[in-house]
Formats: sequence, C-alpha cells, structure tokens
Amino acid sequence: MPRVPGGASLIERYAAYLPVTDRTPRLSLGEGNTPLVRAPTLERELGIGEVWLKVEGQNPTGSFKDRGMVVAVAKAVEDGARVVLCASTGNTAASAAAYAARAGISCTVVLPAGQVAAGKLAQALAHGAQVIAVRGPFDAALAVVRELAGQGEATLVNSVNPHRVEGQKTAAFEVCESLGDAPDALFIPVGNAGNITAYWKGFNEAVRGGLARTRPRMYGYQAAGAAPLVSGKPVSAPETVATAIRVGNPASWQGAVAARDESGGAIDSVTDEEILDAYGFVARCEGIFCEPASAASIAGLRKRARSGGLREVRRVVCVLTGNGMKDPDRARLLAGPIPEVEATADAVRRSFR
Ligand code: F0G
Repeated sequence: MPRVPGGASLIERYAAYLPVTDRTPRLSLGEGNTPLVRAPTLERELGIGEVWLKVEGQNPTGSFKDRGMVVAVAKAVEDGARVVLCASTGNTAASAAAYAARAGISCTVVLPAGQVAAGKLAQALAHGAQVIAVRGPFDAALAVVRELAGQGEATLVNSVNPHRVEGQKTAAFEVCESLGDAPDALFIPVGNAGNITAYWKGFNEAVRGGLARTRPRMYGYQAAGAAPLVSGKPVSAPETVATAIRVGNPASWQGAVAARDESGGAIDSVTDEEILDAYGFVARCEGIFCEPASAASIAGLRKRARSGGLREVRRVVCVLTGNGMKDPDRARLLAGPIPEVEATADAVRRSFR
C-alpha cells in the first residue's frame, strides 16, 4: 500500500485511496496518525491477550470527525462551494467549523437544542460557525439540513456525504499498519452509523491493498435509550447521557447492518450506567479521558467478554471516538464537590481522601 510517511496530511498520506485529484486543496490541521495505546488493566480484567485503544480524541478538534471532514471540506472547496452545512450532536459541528475556517469558507451548523456538550458548542462558536438550535433530536436537525442542502443552499457535510466515509476509513488503515494486520475484533460506538460503515470499508480495502490479511468482527454499540439498530426500528425520542450518540434513526443504517453481517459481528446496546462506568474506568485505570459516547465501545467490550462471547478472540481494538474535554460538565458532575479549605498545609492534609 503506497503511503507518504511521517507528518504529512491525511489527504497526502492516503491520496491513492481517497477521491482526491490534483485540484483538491491539500487542506490539513494535522488530522489522523492518532495513537493506538495498549490497555493492560482491561486485558487483566477481561482475560484478553491484547486490548488496544485507538485514541481518536487526539485529532485536531478532539474527535474522529476530522478524518472525514478534511476530505469533505477539501472536496467542497474544489467544487467551488462557499458554505458547508451540517446537523450535529456536537463533534461534526466542531470539526466542520474548524475546517471551514481553515479553508476560508462559511459554516452553518444545526444542533438539537440543549443536547450538545459544552466543549463542542464552544468550538463551533469560536471557529465562527453560524450555530442554530432546533427543538427536536439530532434526527430532526438532519432532516432540516438535508432539505436545505437539497435546495442548493450549501454543501452538506454530514456522513451522508460520501467523502466523509472515505476520509474516516483511514482509521482502519492506521490500525492495520500499527498491528501488522487487522485485529480479531473491533469495538465501536454507533450513532448515525457513518463510522462503523467507514471502518468496515477501510478494513476491506486494507485486505485488497495488502495491508492486512484478515478482517475483524465488527461490534457496534448503541446506548440503550437510543438503539434503533438493536430493536430494528427507529426511536422517535432517543435518550442517553452519551449525547454524541443520541440518534434515533441512523442515516447509514444499511452500512452498519452490512458491517455487522459481513464481518460476523454484532450490534448491541449498553446502558447509561455501563457507559459511565466504562468512562470512569478508562480515565482512572488507563489514563485516557474520552467522552461518554466513546466509552460505549469499552462498555460493549466488557459486556461481551463477561458473557463469554469473546473466547476465540486474542486481539481487540476499541475506538475511543472523542476527547473527554469535550464534555467537562459530565466529569465534574460525577466527581462531586471539590473541598475548599484554608491555604495551609494542615488544612489541605486534613482533607486528603
Ligand atoms: N462517538 C462520538 C464522540 C461521536 O460524536 C459520534 C457521532 C459517534 C461516536 C458515532 O459515530 O454517528 O458515525 O455512528 N457524532 C455525530 C455528530 C452524530 O454529529 O457529531 P457515527
């Protein structure tokens, strides 16, 4: 698989596998090339040979969205677009806003009112996007932007834009490059289902490109209150603490089902309690601060391993999709109050836990 090494941009590194031409701007904020970090505490807890975490929160805007967004915005610019548009639970908005700013074009984001984590909202605003909140879930916001884009108002950069999936598949390439092959199983949170679709495409192309011999079983996890792919029907009022995956009717439904069935994997749900438990665990025991939605992959791994569903599996990768700093309120809420005392050694010592 030909590849430009080192610190080159994602578009340059994987140009041969992306829909880029000589006219595609080499847009970059340094996306991709994220760390694959081993998780020894999880390995011990679950009795699995190797557990690796793909830390996508290390991307420029703190989530995996940057991989697909850099390609989608570059292609939009190549096609002469002046405005990009998306619906978002927050991360897509932050990423679109940053890459639009970088490219010198405008960005409009439509968000579910009151359901976006503080860090993500701050990013979209800081990068100068026009931010509009609608009364309804993400799915309602997506329907609105699809209608607006259909009327030619702007270029849609949600993952229904195929360039998004193309960029996001590069994460699968990186996993294969790091491990020398695909893992036995991949655990990934599922919301609008673009990412599981992209990883599966990436793993298939990695085999064709000689980067891997095998493909992983794909295990996708939705939050129990927003699990349409598990129940097999859309959820009209999705609910979960993991606001990033609070999606009731995923746009890439078919892609997720294909990834599950072709790989011999599964799509299952985890409760908010399991998500928050995994979120706290990976921060305290592995030193990695991800956002609640990302922890659905760890919660899913634990659920499946504990039910005996991973006996044949030697090496797994969990995708940690977003950075914990995106949602500072959640971490603060779970930790409880901070003791405030006089500025003396004695007073501080007395409040040690
Ligand atoms: N994890 C995080 C942190 C996300 O922000 C998302 C999706 C997912 C997982 C699920 O990925 O949608 O491709 O299945 N966030 C979208 C957004 C919906 O608007 O930022 P997916």
